[in-house]
Amino acid sequence: MSDFASTAHSLEAAQFAQQFVPPELAIVVPTFNEYDNVGLLYESLSAALEGISWELIVVDDNSPDHTAERVKALSRQHGNVRCIRRLGRRGLSSACIEGIMATAAPFVAVMDADHQHDERILPGMLARAEAGIDLVVGSRFVGGDESAAKGLSSTRLWGSNFATRLSGMVVGGRLTDPMSGFFLMRREAFERVAQSLAEDGFKILLDLVVTSGRSGEPLSIAEVPYTFRARNAGESKMSALVTLQFLGLWFSKLTGGVVPPTFLLFAMVGISGVAVHLVTLWLFTNIDTPFVAAQIIATLAAMTWNFALNNVLTYADRRLRGARLWTGLLGFYLVCSLGGIANISVASVIYEYRGATFLAGLAGAVMSSVFNYAVTRIVTWRS
Ligand code: GDD
Ligand code: MN
Repeated sequence: MSDFASTAHSLEAAQFAQQFVPPELAIVVPTFNEYDNVGLLYESLSAALEGISWELIVVDDNSPDHTAERVKALSRQHGNVRCIRRLGRRGLSSACIEGIMATAAPFVAVMDADHQHDERILPGMLARAEAGIDLVVGSRFVGGDESAAKGLSSTRLWGSNFATRLSGMVVGGRLTDPMSGFFLMRREAFERVAQSLAEDGFKILLDLVVTSGRSGEPLSIAEVPYTFRARNAGESKMSALVTLQFLGLWFSKLTGGVVPPTFLLFAMVGISGVAVHLVTLWLFTNIDTPFVAAQIIATLAAMTWNFALNNVLTYADRRLRGARLWTGLLGFYLVCSLGGIANISVASVIYEYRGATFLAGLAGAVMSSVFNYAVTRIVTWRS
């Protein structure tokens, strides 16, 4: 064998062998429309993680820009890349959970695809976890470095500060950056709490810390500072919807998990439905529609409004489309009518017993919203 051929041969052998070294660290990256970011991400991870055996697991929600194809092309070049392509699903938290559940590596890290998180701190984070810390968080704020300012617009920065303070209330000040999407964990510690995590949301870290705290086995936590960079290519998926979902999660955690994250949204939609009802009623009585007819029209309008809004907001991740939209709407009318009966019966019992009009009305309304929430979650927007 010539020198050249034998070098080429041993290089190939080394590459081949490397593919079969079980990974110590899995990097889980949720993606939605990150086609232009994943290639560069792989390269910067390779540079940062030299000497560590690692794998990349990309969890893609069937991005229309074909991110999954790009990741699979990477997999054909490198043995340590895998793609989980999910169909008919959306959601950052559930994507992270699925990615973590798919690895056997003892340590897992979650990070974004858009280069905002600095991969160069990963070896340091891994070292802390190997030394026994359950959860190591990449923080934009530790050590007073307000580096987030560089990666965020001013409104987003304000929102981020506000959300950080709200979250501080539920995590009890254990983290300087509870909204971070960048963390590394001992996989076993994650699996202990995985079943209790809410799947619908953007803020898996917050959920992890609170849930483990409540379970009586709080995680040991360390933070490693990094400078938040500007997004590389593509656009952020953070939106008004994500903010609302965050508020729902926050409220849920504040009530110790008694109120599910989607309930807050469902209730807010319900309140807006009352306004729709009253406006419609006013409109139709104004054009001399008999009261009962106007009331029926107003009720239908409010129910339709509530259905549509819940479909795009509260249950955005399992939004009904096509034929299921119409059967869903009919089912929703039906459930709400039963909810109405529940409302009237509870209210009249309380009214007869206590004679308190306002209390009776409120109890009836609460009863029907809880009823509607619980039932439509099972029959209309079942996951
Ligand atoms: N699979 C999947 N499904 N991935 C998603 C989804 C989804 O529905 N939505 C967003 N992603 C992916 C993006 O493709 C990206 O890789 C990552 O999740 C973060 O999304 P961005 O849209 O870039 O979020 P951001 O930059 O506004 O916020 C991020 O940074 C903040 C600061 O650390 C998130 O990580 C936040 O959680 C974090 O607070
Ligand atoms: Mn980002």
